[in-house]
Amino acid sequence: MPLANDAPRAGTFSSGAAIDTLKDAAQGLGHAGGVALHLHGLEKSFGPTRVLRGIDLDIAPGEFVAIVGKSGCGKSTLLRLLAGLDQPDAGEIRFADAGGGPVQPNKRIVFQEPRLLPWAKVVDNVAVGLGEGRRARAAAEGALEAVQLADKADQWPARLSGGQRQRVALARALVSRPDFLALDEPLGALDALTRITMQALVERIWREQGFTAVFVTHDVAEAVALADRVVVLDAGRIVLDLPIELERPRGRASAEAGRYEQRLLDAILG
Ligand SMILES: Nc1ncnc2c1ncn2[C@@H]1O[C@H](COP(=O)(O)OP(=O)(O)O)[C@@H](O)[C@H]1O
Ligand SMILES: [Mg+2]
Repeated sequence: MPLANDAPRAGTFSSGAAIDTLKDAAQGLGHAGGVALHLHGLEKSFGPTRVLRGIDLDIAPGEFVAIVGKSGCGKSTLLRLLAGLDQPDAGEIRFADAGGGPVQPNKRIVFQEPRLLPWAKVVDNVAVGLGEGRRARAAAEGALEAVQLADKADQWPARLSGGQRQRVALARALVSRPDFLALDEPLGALDALTRITMQALVERIWREQGFTAVFVTHDVAEAVALADRVVVLDAGRIVLDLPIELERPRGRASAEAGRYEQRLLDAILG
């Protein structure tokens, strides 16, 4: 699987047609649609430590699911399995199209650290994996536009703020038009105000592009602000699966959101 945060891989997308699709997608002309995800009986251990203990979860195409839980409860382990970076010991991960048929989705992952190449300009960081040439550059510029960084295309990563760097990482994940995007505490290193702006950005892009999103966070307010459903993980098991029935775009700090946050905190803290 080509990864958003991998080192460059020349020729990953070699055909002109593929690049045109990428360009359209990055410019917001297309709609990825998202894939369904079915997890059944997922188990994962590291040595004697059972980290995931029978995870069952169904995610609809285009759904935005947040995973919350205490540090060490297995959130990143689960996300890595979904992104295909690691294999479960037992159980099944199945991706399906809207009709229920099996698909090989285009999966991408964004981490807490942007992992940019310091010697490559912003636009080249985004185009990593697309190869060389004008079309790759146009696709990367389109993705930068989506994250409101078009004016930084020829800047060096070191010249950007933390929030801007994370937007470049997001653009790099989006440029290939994923139908599944995994995000592992992507806003965790940002200051509170930047986080709020970035949450709105993530929500807008998800609404425009329609990919299926699984977003790990330890911040219940962030989970309630963004997700259709919040899943609470505790000691490798799902202890709560809570649909968030708030209209979008969501106002912050509403009484209703506060009640959702409290329910989640109660489940996390036991
Ligand atoms: N590669 C690994 N080798 C050994 N132990 C691991 C590895 N990855 C995660 N763990 C352990 O699995 C548990 C869950 O880790 P993780 O999924 O990273 O938790 P979270 O993301 O919820 O904080 C922790 O006890 C962690 O130490
Ligand atoms: Mg983690």
